[in-house]
Amino acid sequence: MTFREMLVEDLEQVVDIEQNLFSVPWTKEGFLTYLMKKDTMFFVVEEKERILGYCSMMTVLDEGDILNVAVRSDRQKEGIGQFLVDSMLRMAEMQGIKLVHLEVRQGNETARRLYQRLGFKEDGLRRNYYENPVENAVLMTKEM
Ligand SMILES: CC(C)(COP(=O)(O)OP(=O)(O)OC[C@H]1O[C@@H](n2cnc3c(N)ncnc32)[C@H](O)[C@@H]1OP(=O)(O)O)[C@@H](O)C(=O)NCCC(=O)NCCS
Repeated sequence: MTFREMLVEDLEQVVDIEQNLFSVPWTKEGFLTYLMKKDTMFFVVEEKERILGYCSMMTVLDEGDILNVAVRSDRQKEGIGQFLVDSMLRMAEMQGIKLVHLEVRQGNETARRLYQRLGFKEDGLRRNYYENPVENAVLMTKEM
């Protein structure tokens, strides 16, 4: 299993996973736009040319904001999510990121536990932040 930067060639598989997992998925054009930005980092975990998961972060000065985290449904609960996010945090730390923020659906207990294991603390709530279905966002922050 390899952790590496996401390439434009990965987008077909990435968008497939995205559409399978999210009710309001990012489009290929959305990924492309962010992938090309200077202040973003996108990574994948790959096995035998198959993308198993991906994640990304946007950075401003010494702070980061996690944009996506996803593991294909047939490979969840193997530790890939933790490996992905932990690896991205290490890359961010090497680039001088000191504080990382994210938001997660309140009902997404799996993701909230994953982030807690990686040292994120819940420090805010944004009411009705998500749509389809409408749901609160829990805000989480990690000091590096
Ligand atoms: C959230 C998500 C990225 C987690 O990915 P994942 O690869 O399943 O994460 P992990 O395997 O590291 O951890 C998930 C669970 O599997 C368990 N696990 C890890 N390795 C395991 C193994 N070898 N055997 C059994 N269980 C294992 C973990 O302990 C964890 O358990 P918990 O839910 O009781 O805390 C994934 O569920 C996903 O893509 N969800 C849909 C998209 C999403 O919600 N993204 C986050 C938006 S903020």
